[in-house]
Amino acid sequence: MENTISFIPARPNWPENGEGEAIMTEHELVVLALNMRERAYAPYSGFRVGAALLCGDGTVYTGCNLESASYPCGLCAERVAAAKALSEGRRDFGVLAVAGSAKELCTPCGLCRQFLFEFTPQLRILCANDVGMWKAYDLHALLAEGFGGASLSMGTE
Ligand code: THU
Repeated sequence: MENTISFIPARPNWPENGEGEAIMTEHELVVLALNMRERAYAPYSGFRVGAALLCGDGTVYTGCNLESASYPCGLCAERVAAAKALSEGRRDFGVLAVAGSAKELCTPCGLCRQFLFEFTPQLRILCANDVGMWKAYDLHALLAEGFGGASLSMGTE
């Protein structure tokens, strides 16, 4: 399992300071996600999740899971972070970190994968466990052959 604390070199999608250096490390983004678990409202599952979404301009939008007595109304941390970014006009998702409360890595649920796929099919997602061990995935691998806008285009008959 990957658990790197080293400085991550700038990559295509990763905001830079103009001198080619990444403005934060992936580890720092994971720490933000870990800390956001404190804000979770999860009285029903007891499973706290935090998320941190770094956008192209360097802004980080955070989220946590928010549950409801009417269970299906609950929101996952990833979609809360994404909705905050989207509603502030961001569409350029760079990297998303998500941290859960179990020894297993917290990978996004199917609903979140589909929601994120709409905006950034290639999104890099850092999935962390309760002690901050994490592993990076690409969304298109987590949602293989995903259904997107292009899938709606009509064929000619
Ligand atoms: N949850 C998330 O917020 N993100 C995930 O990636 C997995 C699941 C939440 C939903 C629910 O509030 C709780 O975790 C248990 O499923």
